Amino acid sequence: MDKIKKIFLENKAWAQSKVEADKDYFSKMARDQKPEYLWIGCSDSRVPPSEITNTDPGEMFVHRNIANLVVHTDLNFLSVLQYAVEHLKVRHVIVCGHYNCGGVKAAISHQSLGLIDNWVRNIEDTYFSHKVEVDSVKDEVQKVNRLVELSVIAQVRNLAHTSIIQKAWHGLNQPFVHGWVYDINTGLIKQLITLEPGTNIDSAYRYDFSH
Ligand code: CO
Repeated sequence: MDKIKKIFLENKAWAQSKVEADKDYFSKMARDQKPEYLWIGCSDSRVPPSEITNTDPGEMFVHRNIANLVVHTDLNFLSVLQYAVEHLKVRHVIVCGHYNCGGVKAAISHQSLGLIDNWVRNIEDTYFSHKVEVDSVKDEVQKVNRLVELSVIAQVRNLAHTSIIQKAWHGLNQPFVHGWVYDINTGLIKQLITLEPGTNIDSAYRYDFSH
C-alpha cells in the first residue's frame, strides 16, 4: 500500500476509536491545553515522547531537535521554552537524551557532515570540557553513552542559565528541571539530575529578579 495513503487510513481509524471510547474526546481536547511537562528530546524516530511515557495528547508540550540541545541563540527553542514556562506554566521541564544518539556519535567522530557540524559543535564543547573522563572509557559504545549523559546534564545547566527559567523560579517557584536518558535497548528512562526551583547558579550566569 502507498505509504502516505496508509498514514491517512491509520489516522481515520485512530480518530474513530477515540470517538467510540468517548464521543466528546475531540471537543474536550479542542477547548484548551494544560500540559504539566515540557519535553525537550532528540528528533530520533525511536524516541517518541508520548509513547515511551504513556502520556495522552494535552499532557506534554514538546520540542525536539538533533541530540536534544538547549542552545541560547536558538530562537525556535527559546520561544517554545518561554511559551511553556510563562504561558502554559508547566511544572516540569525535562531534557531527555538517549543512548546510542547519532548526534553525539557525530560529535565524537572526526567526520564532517556539512551544516550539521555547527549544531553538533555544542556537544563537542561538552566533550572538550570532559575529555579526560570520556576518553578514559575504552569501549566505543560506552564512550558515546557517557557523553550522552554529560550532554544532558550540560543542557539542564543551560536551561538554568536562561533568564526565562530564572525569572520563573523567582516569580512562580517552578519549574523543576530534569535531565533524563532513555535506553533504546530496554525502553527504560533513567534520571540523571534534577534542579529544584531556586537552585544556586554560578554568579556569571545569574540574573537578579528581586526588584
Ligand atoms: Co539522538
